[in-house]
Amino acid sequence: TRVDKGGHRHFMAKEIAEQPHVIGEALSHYLTADGRDIALPDTMPDFAGVDRLVLVACGTAYFACVTAKYWFERIARLPVEVDIASEFRYREPPVADGTVALFVSQSGETADTLAALRYCADKAAHVVSVVNVPESSIARESGTALPILAGVEVGVASTKAFTCQLTVLYLLALKAARQRGHLDADALADRLSALRSLPGILNHALAQDRSAKKVARKLAEADDILFLGRGLMYPLAMEGALKLKEISYIHAEAYASGELKHGPIALIDKRMPVVVMAPRDALFDKTVSNMQEVMARGGKVTLVTDEAGLAEAGDGVTHTLVMPTVADDLAPILYAIPAQQLAYHTAIAKGTDVDQPRNLAKSVTVE
Ligand code: G6P
Repeated sequence: TRVDKGGHRHFMAKEIAEQPHVIGEALSHYLTADGRDIALPDTMPDFAGVDRLVLVACGTAYFACVTAKYWFERIARLPVEVDIASEFRYREPPVADGTVALFVSQSGETADTLAALRYCADKAAHVVSVVNVPESSIARESGTALPILAGVEVGVASTKAFTCQLTVLYLLALKAARQRGHLDADALADRLSALRSLPGILNHALAQDRSAKKVARKLAEADDILFLGRGLMYPLAMEGALKLKEISYIHAEAYASGELKHGPIALIDKRMPVVVMAPRDALFDKTVSNMQEVMARGGKVTLVTDEAGLAEAGDGVTHTLVMPTVADDLAPILYAIPAQQLAYHTAIAKGTDVDQPRNLAKSVTVE
């Protein structure tokens, strides 16, 4: 299929804008007709009999896996090990009987992810993959291949594939919680109905593009940028830093807010912008106190939060991006949008090649 930019300046902009639509597609694929349950293929193992889940991927797909660990452990009470494929495969980790090994890949062709999959298949694990390209090697070699239905993604920096991966992984965590007795039928139906309102909420976030662009003009002047987040916002902070590095060539790194005082606080000065991703959730107060530590040392903070967070953040924040309110567990999918917009507009301000960044490939099929 031929894809064009659909009136956008870059594929990346088009793919960012498509997210409400493709997430809607993924939801209609996986939700049952009454919208109260999740339908998975018969080959999918029942999570009730599983005592450990292994998640393996590279790049952006890896950060989707780290996010999923929080969901599986908290909602489904299922222990998760998560690793990057290039480390996992050579560590020769023990893979016990009954392990479900789940591989996430947009292309389905990443060499290290495929090798890690073969390693687990050899050890008789149940191999499940979450892929965008259904006819890919990873999909073909899996016991169960679950499509993310993002459509063709052309921009080297992954955007819509990431949020579709998150959507499918969240559905799996909910299914696991239901099968393991941690969610009753009504609670599951409630969560699915919240999920169905997500595409509409994402449209509101997309409409904040001009604010993100203004902040990005400032970020483009920096040599280094620090992203902070806690809980579910920590993997998202890592993805935000990756996105920015990939296309703007500005060094960015992410830290769990609670680790700030164990190192990165030494770097804080007025020249290194700090992006704090923090919806008003149970951990918000803790993140605010980390943010104050940054500001007390002259650090310039961009706070990405919601109305309630904005009201409680106090003075001293340099820039804010205000997101719609969303259920706590869905925040990583929503906050992916400002992370993508910041990276996109910073890259434009720097004049880099957004869709084809130097030295990077869309799919890494060699080691
Ligand atoms: C490359 C791409 C990234 C992608 C990673 C994993 O580095 O540039 O955008 O996240 O590979 O690719 P996969 O196709 O396995 O998701």
